[in-house]
Amino acid sequence: MLGKKRILSGMRPTGRLHLGNLHGALDNWIQLQDQYESFFFVADWHALSTDYASPARIRRNTWDMILDWLAVGLDPQTCTLFIQSDVREHAELYMLLGMITPLSWLERNPTYKEQQQALRHKDLSTYGFLGYPVLQAADIILYKANGVPVGKDQLPHVELTREMTRRFNSLYQREVFPIPDPLLTDVPVLPGLDGRKMSKSYNNCIYITEPEETVRDKIAGMKTDPQRIRRSDAGDPALCPVFAFHKIYSPSGEGADVAEGCRTARIGCVDCKKRLMGNVLERLRPIREKREQMEHRPSWVMEILRAGRAVAAKEAGRTLREAREAVGLGAPLDEAAFFRGVGD
Ligand code: TRP
Ligand code: SF4
Repeated sequence: MLGKKRILSGMRPTGRLHLGNLHGALDNWIQLQDQYESFFFVADWHALSTDYASPARIRRNTWDMILDWLAVGLDPQTCTLFIQSDVREHAELYMLLGMITPLSWLERNPTYKEQQQALRHKDLSTYGFLGYPVLQAADIILYKANGVPVGKDQLPHVELTREMTRRFNSLYQREVFPIPDPLLTDVPVLPGLDGRKMSKSYNNCIYITEPEETVRDKIAGMKTDPQRIRRSDAGDPALCPVFAFHKIYSPSGEGADVAEGCRTARIGCVDCKKRLMGNVLERLRPIREKREQMEHRPSWVMEILRAGRAVAAKEAGRTLREAREAVGLGAPLDEAAFFRGVGD
């Protein structure tokens, strides 16, 4: 273990994962979990920053997300999996970072205004929502993470984390925290059923553990190259979301064959989709089976979370002692340290 660099990443609990989440983030986490000492957590406090008025689904979504993580192959023997709100040190470090973070940094954070716009139906003119990146920075540096595997949308948050970290180290004149680097996942975005980005809010998703029948129906209903109207028209696979799926799910020979068949109108869209269905279902079957097994063993999953929390809390506690020391507070009720702090 010694010498391995550490990574940490989190997701807000949005519920069951779709194929876009799988190929956009999780595949990457699974790849990285062996190379790094890895911490992955469900950011349920972050969910509260936007859903404070209707938090009813947070627990359910957290559970669904954890089961999906385990089903796709995050290995609890290899990485540390936990729930943010189970480790209260996140909140304490968030508070300390809040003391040193200029308001202007938060107000000019591009995702702040964007998200407020996008979620106009919610009142996000709150202190908690403005402080979202401060909590995220605390998540990251609490574990002294060296790398943060994220998508492009999260880059401003990692950049803010770096700035807060530098400011902390320089104000208190010690290198308590390493400056974390973003680890960008450079994957082609898997389109949704309609060709736009796959997203829950567009209602164009295939979920990784949904039943075979609905996967079939959804693929059958997918948009294709809009220029290919009749069976006899040639198509362009590059313009077709079905082909984007073939690239991920079909063996490369079959993908090439389908592409050539499309361009020459040798194969029709119905057949093209049938071949895709077989490949997608084959890939998702073991994931769905694993999830079904876990649904029957909730206490086994709870045990994983308990063990993850223990590892996380130990690391977090250690870092927090250093942080308290750095800001001049030291350990609670440690008499000798207290009077050293009191001075003459
Ligand atoms: N903000 C991230 C998202 O929306 C979730 C997150 C919270 C996170 N804390 C983090 C990601 C720490 C990486 C590291 O996806
Ligand atoms: Fe898309 Fe396949 Fe139809 Fe070509 S044949 S347009 S790749 S569904």
